[in-house]
Amino acid sequence: MERELVIVLDFGGQYNQLIARRVRECHVYAEVLPYTTSLDVIRQKQPKGIIFTGGPNSVYLEQSPRCSKEIFDLGVPILGICYGDQLIDYLLDGKVETAPVSEYGKTEIHLDTTSRLFTGVPETSTGWMSHTDYIAEVPAGFRITGTTANCPAAAMEDAQRGIYGVQFHPEVLHTEYGKEILYNFVRGICGCVGDWEMGSFVDQTVEALKKEIGDGRVLCALSGGVDSSVAAALLSKAVGKQLTCVFVDHGLLRKDEGDQVESVFGVDGPFELNFIRVNAQQRFYDKLAGVTDPERKRKIIGEEFIRVFEEEAKKIGEVDYLAQGTIYPDVIESGLGKSARIKSHHNVGGLPDHIAFKKIVEPLRMLFKDEVRNAGRRLGLPEYLVSRQPFPGPGLGVRIIGEVTAEKVRIVQEADAIYREELHKAGCDKGLGQYFAALTNMQSVGVMGDERTYDYAVALRAVNTSDFMTADASEIPFEVLNRCMTRIINEVHGVNRVLYDLTSKPPGTIEFE
Ligand code: XMP
Repeated sequence: MERELVIVLDFGGQYNQLIARRVRECHVYAEVLPYTTSLDVIRQKQPKGIIFTGGPNSVYLEQSPRCSKEIFDLGVPILGICYGDQLIDYLLDGKVETAPVSEYGKTEIHLDTTSRLFTGVPETSTGWMSHTDYIAEVPAGFRITGTTANCPAAAMEDAQRGIYGVQFHPEVLHTEYGKEILYNFVRGICGCVGDWEMGSFVDQTVEALKKEIGDGRVLCALSGGVDSSVAAALLSKAVGKQLTCVFVDHGLLRKDEGDQVESVFGVDGPFELNFIRVNAQQRFYDKLAGVTDPERKRKIIGEEFIRVFEEEAKKIGEVDYLAQGTIYPDVIESGLGKSARIKSHHNVGGLPDHIAFKKIVEPLRMLFKDEVRNAGRRLGLPEYLVSRQPFPGPGLGVRIIGEVTAEKVRIVQEADAIYREELHKAGCDKGLGQYFAALTNMQSVGVMGDERTYDYAVALRAVNTSDFMTADASEIPFEVLNRCMTRIINEVHGVNRVLYDLTSKPPGTIEFE
């Protein structure tokens, strides 16, 4: 596929994914490659620009990651960020030293706005800093284009050779004009017109899949989550009835979710594919009977999923391709696609090794989550499906404390549906990382009408998070929580208490198991 490319050369920075995302937000395709990528490979890819990421090392130490100096002779514009900025300086014989004062966090930066990199950016603004080394001397031919109180060369450039460096992090939202600066680099300095667009991605991928698969047969494990749904929709568009989707309803889905998935992918839906829904609810409940340990529950659900999937796959016989909904963050996190082995299916916890298939097809492996959602919209998937919040593979099994039973599943499904509906009605769901109801294993005394009750407590949880590694409880307005409480108590039989979980992560986790 011919499209403009910006290479993000990864020197171990924690924001490398973010840089690629920001570039793609400028409608330019970006790919993260390890710093060890050879110049030949880089040349073959014909990038319009290269960005060196930050990283935790000191450039002047022997083992620190470096690329070849000849990269500057490719004639491709280069932007170095933080460590990447210092690396440019080091490779071109400037001077990098430990800074007398290190900078961390929001910092006032002064920029020379005659630089093309800073077109349209004010002379003074806020930048996000995180460094202990600094550039003490810029290389010959460079000029300083930015300063802070403690950093005499917070930005530098050799515009003639198209080499730019910034000590601050334009990819981080705390840098006020970071997006503009990256836009200036990729669309201005690199001269990209911006041909990365979801409509053309969908069309080109469909064509590529047709070519690759030919008249082969494809099997896809459909969980109903965003990634596997979009992968299935793409494949269905490419190869239609050659695709078989197996959807295992383990009885631990959200209310009506199984039917929703079937209405989209089943016989009455818009896609022409072979759809198999396996109603395995009772089978899972039987396996989970009497089990209270959360890890055991996870294992049982994962294993049983595989068994059911395997049985269905056997009925189909040999297939040529196994489709997976792997997305770009999975690829980057698993070592930049070095491994060709089957990744654990991130939704179900591992597919069996011995299903008979010849190859794996991963049509979303270069997309970020928000791009996957956009591709889904382009493919005509309903909004409730593409905008779904993350839902764990073990489903409600990790939202029910203690033993899982059909009755407890009913309670948590109904409470969760009310909670989601009320948050949506109040407009509180926008921007939330994740929100759901969980069922505690606590029963307590209450009074309803004139009767004593001894029923369960439901816990409501809503968190703000961007990375799902850390999270804070959201401040849902009290009147909204109150409405949820009233409805849940009145409408969900078996509940007499509603709690709101204030715990952040850490020390808590997002799920409630
Ligand atoms: P925790 O509870 O560990 O969750 O803070 C972090 C994020 O991961 C999701 N999660 C899972 N996703 N399979 C998944 O596909 C799982 O087994 C699983 N467990 C947790 C969780 O929903 C949250 O978004």
